[in-house]
Amino acid sequence: MIYMDFNRHRRLRTTENMRAMVRETHLHKEDLIYPIFVVEGNNIRNKVESMPGVYQLSLDYLTDEMKEVERLGIPSVIVFGVPAVKDPHGSQAYCETGIVQQAIRQIKQEVPSLTVVADTCLCQYTDHGHCGVVEEGVILNDPSLELLVKTAVSQAKAGADVIAPSNMMDGFVAAIRQGLDEEGFVNTPIMSYAVKYSSSFYGPFRDAAHSSPQFGDRRTYQMDPANRLEALREAESDIAEGADYLIVKPALAYLDIMREIKDRYPYPVVAYNVSGEYSMVKAAAQNGWIDEREIVMEKLTAMKRAGADLMITYFAKDVAKWLDEQK
Ligand code: PBG
Repeated sequence: MIYMDFNRHRRLRTTENMRAMVRETHLHKEDLIYPIFVVEGNNIRNKVESMPGVYQLSLDYLTDEMKEVERLGIPSVIVFGVPAVKDPHGSQAYCETGIVQQAIRQIKQEVPSLTVVADTCLCQYTDHGHCGVVEEGVILNDPSLELLVKTAVSQAKAGADVIAPSNMMDGFVAAIRQGLDEEGFVNTPIMSYAVKYSSSFYGPFRDAAHSSPQFGDRRTYQMDPANRLEALREAESDIAEGADYLIVKPALAYLDIMREIKDRYPYPVVAYNVSGEYSMVKAAAQNGWIDEREIVMEKLTAMKRAGADLMITYFAKDVAKWLDEQK
């Protein structure tokens, strides 16, 4: 006689069909936002060495790339600019003819169905590589806000559908909301990097965007990875200031935070599956140590399970292809 007093959970796992019927979390192409890096110049398609499969593109390559993204069924891209010149105040970030403004205009003209998210920050544009105005080695909060507002407004004028401020100055959502409204962009949503940790997982991105701080680090504005309550305070401020979506960044090491943000606040949550999370998978896959496809689908599913509604991921094109193959 076998022991009878236990539950047989395995009953629902018998076949793939039965497993699919009780699956709680599903990935969709609509969940994906694809990051792109645009550079000045012509005929440029630079490999980012630390991010295999990621390129810096000049504008003559951009339209084809965006058509491919559209054809794959990915609804949205987030645009990062790599300007040719940098200065202390990051003036290329808010210049009408800046690389991001040009790229946004081009995408909205050539592939208008794509939702274009503009990353609003200064670090790619400042010669010191910090996300705000620097004086005597200190990153100043309020003077930085003015430049961020100018940047956001110029991006909206170029046609950006969503503004995504990532610089972590206090009050940036309020300032940008007011700036956008005053210029008539009341319907342009703000996807705030509400919960952004000071993370070593951003290393490869700084190669891609040439945005490494030239002195010090970002710990006086980005969050301490040890903190949970601080994430709730950040999210609450951003909601009060008018954020429409809340980004949690990085994703994988912060799924606990994502779940908590999703449970507490009735807002769309966006997971930023950052560069280091991408490069680690790529490196291990290139060594034949892991199955890239299985790992990527598993971790994006984990982000959704943790509460993410949307995912910014360098894997977006691969995921869209894999979802097609599953059908
Ligand atoms: C700009 C910005 C960064 C990332 C997105 N926007 C870099 C940083 O804060 O240093 C990181 C993205 C990634 O690692 O994929 N502030």
